[in-house]
Amino acid sequence: VIDIGALYKNTASFTYDPGFTSTASCESKITYIDGDAGVLLHRGYPIEQLAEHGDFLEVCYLLLYGELPTAAQKKDFDYRVTHHTMVHEQMSRFFTGFRRDAHPMAVMCGCVGALSAFYHDSTDITDPHQRMVASLRMIAKMPTLAAMAYKYHVGQPFVYPKNDLDYASNFLRMCFAVPCEEYVVNPVLSRAMDRIFILHADHEQNASTSTVRLAGSSGANPFACIAAGIACLWGPAHGGANEAALNMLTEIGTVDRIPEYIARAKDKNDPFRLMGFGHRVYKNYDPRAKIMQKTTHEVLGELGVKDDPLLEVAMELERIALTDEYFIEKKLYPNIDFYSGITLKALGFPTTMFTVLFALARTVGWIAQWNEMIEDPEQRIGRPRQLYVGEPQRDYVPVSKR
Ligand code: ACO
Repeated sequence: VIDIGALYKNTASFTYDPGFTSTASCESKITYIDGDAGVLLHRGYPIEQLAEHGDFLEVCYLLLYGELPTAAQKKDFDYRVTHHTMVHEQMSRFFTGFRRDAHPMAVMCGCVGALSAFYHDSTDITDPHQRMVASLRMIAKMPTLAAMAYKYHVGQPFVYPKNDLDYASNFLRMCFAVPCEEYVVNPVLSRAMDRIFILHADHEQNASTSTVRLAGSSGANPFACIAAGIACLWGPAHGGANEAALNMLTEIGTVDRIPEYIARAKDKNDPFRLMGFGHRVYKNYDPRAKIMQKTTHEVLGELGVKDDPLLEVAMELERIALTDEYFIEKKLYPNIDFYSGITLKALGFPTTMFTVLFALARTVGWIAQWNEMIEDPEQRIGRPRQLYVGEPQRDYVPVSKR
C-alpha cells in the first residue's frame, strides 16, 4: 500500500514548479536573455546588431554553428539552403486533403510532421551528417510549405521557389506572385520580412522550444519534433499572440475606446488580457518590440500608408500602458507580438498566417536547440515529475455495488 501522506511530505526529492518559472531544463550556448535589462543575445551578439547589419541566413548559420560565417561560408550555406527549397511533389496532395478554410497552422502541423515520411535519409539522429541535412532541409522547406499553406488558403496555384532570390524575397514571391503577372519584389519589404525572421529566430527555452527539446529527448525524428513545436506555438499565450493582438487592435478600433479595454485588463473578474503585453522573462521592454516598431514604420512609410488607424490605436495603447500604474507595477511592456501583426498585415498577410510566419522563422531556433540537446553528453529523456494530489489507494468496487 502506497502511503500517499508520506509521499506528500517527501517533496524534497523534487521541486514543485508549475510553469517552470525557476527550473532550468538544460545548459545552452545559443541564446542569452536578461529579462530585467531587456537584453537578448544570440551566441553573444545583441539582437539589435544582428537585425541592423545581418541577414536571416547569416543568423541561421550563427545559431547552428556558433560563429558568424566568413564570406565563403555564407555563400556555401546560402547555396545549400537554396538547394533544399523544393518539397516532394507528392506533398502538394497533402494540402488538397484539407478544407480550404482550415487554419494554416493546422495545415502546417500536419505537413511538417509528414516530411519525415519523405526524407528517410535524414531521420537517423545519431548521424551528425544526417542531422545537418535535416536542419538545412527544415530551414529551406519551411518558406515553401508556409507559402503553399497560404496559397491553398486563398485558393491560388502554388508558386515554386525561385532560387536566385534571397530567402525573404523568395518567400514573398511564393506567397504573392500570381500566374500571368510579373511580380517584382520590393527590396524594402523584403528587408522588413527578413528582419522579422531574424527577430523571431530563437528565444531560448520558451514553451515551443522546450516542446521540441522534450519531443527530441525521446529520440523522435527532427521533422516530428518541429511539428510538435509548431503545435505548441499555435496557442494564443505564445506565438498565436500576434494574431490575437491584431484582432484586439481591430476590435478596439478607435483611440477613444482604449480606456474601456485598459479597465477590462485590470479587472480581476474579467479574463481579458491586453494581447501583445507582458512576457514571462522580460520585465522590461522586449528589445525585439522596439526593432519591430521601427520596422512597422518603415513598411507603412514604403507603402504610403498614412494615418493607419490600427497603428494609431497601438501607439496610444502603448503610451497609456507605459504610464499606467497597473502595467508599471506588473512590469507589463509591449512584446514582439504587439507590432508584428500591423507589419504583417501591411505586407499583405491575413491574420491566420501570422503564427505560420513565426513558426517559419523559429524553425532555426528549434533545430539549433534540438542539435545542441542531442550533442549534449548529459542529455537524457525529459521526464518531469508531478505532485500527486488525487485519491489515496482504494479497492475496486464491482459496478453492481456502486
Ligand atoms: N494584460 C493584463 N494583465 C496581465 C497581462 C496582460 N497582457 N499579462 C499578465 N498580466 C497580469 C496577470 O493577470 C497577473 O496578475 P496578478 O499578479 O494580479 O495575478 C500578472 O500580470 C502576472 O501574469 P502571469 O500570467 O502570471 O505571467 P506569466 O509570466 O505567466 O505570463 C504571458 C506571461 C503569458 C505572456 C502573459 O503576460 C500574457 O498572457 N500576455 C498576453 C499574451 C501575449 O502577448 N503573449 C505573447 C508572449 S511573447 C511570445 O510568445 C513571443
